[in-house]
Amino acid sequence: MEAAVGAPKAVILVGGEGTRLRPLTLGTHKSMVPVLNRPFLEHLLEHLKEHGIQEVVLALRHLHHQLLDYFGDGSAFGIALHYVVEDSPLGTAGAVKNAGHFLDDTCFVINGDIYTDLDLTAMLEFHRQRGAMATIALTHVEDVSSYGVVEIGVGSRVRRFLEKPHPSQTSAQTINAGTYILEPQVLDLVPPGQPYMFETGLFPALLSAGWPLFGHPSSCYWIDIGTPQRYLSLNHHLLHLRQSAAGHSQSHSIWSDDGCYVHPTAQVVGPILMGEGCRIGAGARVEGPSILGVGCSVEPGARVVGSILWAQARVEAGAVVEKSVLARGCCVGSRAHTTSGCVLGDETSVPPGSRLEPGTLVWPETPPEKLS
Ligand code: GDD
Ligand code: MG
Repeated sequence: MEAAVGAPKAVILVGGEGTRLRPLTLGTHKSMVPVLNRPFLEHLLEHLKEHGIQEVVLALRHLHHQLLDYFGDGSAFGIALHYVVEDSPLGTAGAVKNAGHFLDDTCFVINGDIYTDLDLTAMLEFHRQRGAMATIALTHVEDVSSYGVVEIGVGSRVRRFLEKPHPSQTSAQTINAGTYILEPQVLDLVPPGQPYMFETGLFPALLSAGWPLFGHPSSCYWIDIGTPQRYLSLNHHLLHLRQSAAGHSQSHSIWSDDGCYVHPTAQVVGPILMGEGCRIGAGARVEGPSILGVGCSVEPGARVVGSILWAQARVEAGAVVEKSVLARGCCVGSRAHTTSGCVLGDETSVPPGSRLEPGTLVWPETPPEKLS
């Protein structure tokens, strides 16, 4: 696919290991985790396309073949995709420098784990009006400790950037929302071929050199899907959005693909999304907001509440799955119970009759005593 001349390009940073999203990311690239039954990155690409971006560079490392196999050159998704694979982690700014041969003009850089409805067109206008060398999208959070705090001064110019500060260091609640607009010259400040970060390297360097670095505030929806709780929240949020867009009542918000079967005595209370070939057995109950991937089964008398099941997950007779995430091919044994915040990695089996305490993370190699 050829992109139109003059349209800005974007680099998406997808080279992190997704450690905090384990065990979901043990076998799945962080940007491929399903959101509404489609890879997360597909939603992100759609958002970029809506703002006229037609060419994207994916800067990544491990499991890159998963993205390549699904997205290919992007033509099936209406966007031109390039892949720049790092042998060893180059850090956020190092990864963009490494993709520099694609970047000859103003470009977007996006953390690949952010879901937002940020108005990128308005942000680009903001950047151009101020003659900025770099603009950082800003959002507001209560607890800034796992983010980069951006303090802004007169005319939205950045005064200070503090990555993951201790509460004693700042009282600001405005954070780096992980979307930047850069002029290509700023990449001259990034040392080639070695790890270098925007957050701890380039932004502080731009500030001390007095380059025009601006913060673009907005009140858009924004979430970093980097933890299982936030991943679950995003899916719930999008299901509720879909429900209100359709003007449905809760109980009618059920979307199912071909070949799904719901037993006449089963109860399905929306919002629920079901992929192809799901089966809900006699007397089972599935309560929204929940998502079932392709080929999931909820057996007789079982209950699924506020959960996400990836493809081919099975909840056996009488089991309860509550506000949990079950990755591909998991099986919750009969009468077992996964409680709020439990997360099961691919192909995990929970023994029949067992109970997982809130927030338990399990995967096939988990010691059996944790599962009793
Ligand atoms: N290509 C490449 N190479 N990508 C990388 C590398 C690397 O060496 N290291 C990290 N990334 C990617 C990750 O895949 C992710 O998409 C993005 O860069 C940010 O990394 P995270 O590990 O998710 O960072 P964070 O969430 O702790 O903090 C960052 O995002 C916050 C917003 O969610 C920072 O940018 C914070 O300042 C920011 O507030
Ligand atoms: Mg993150």
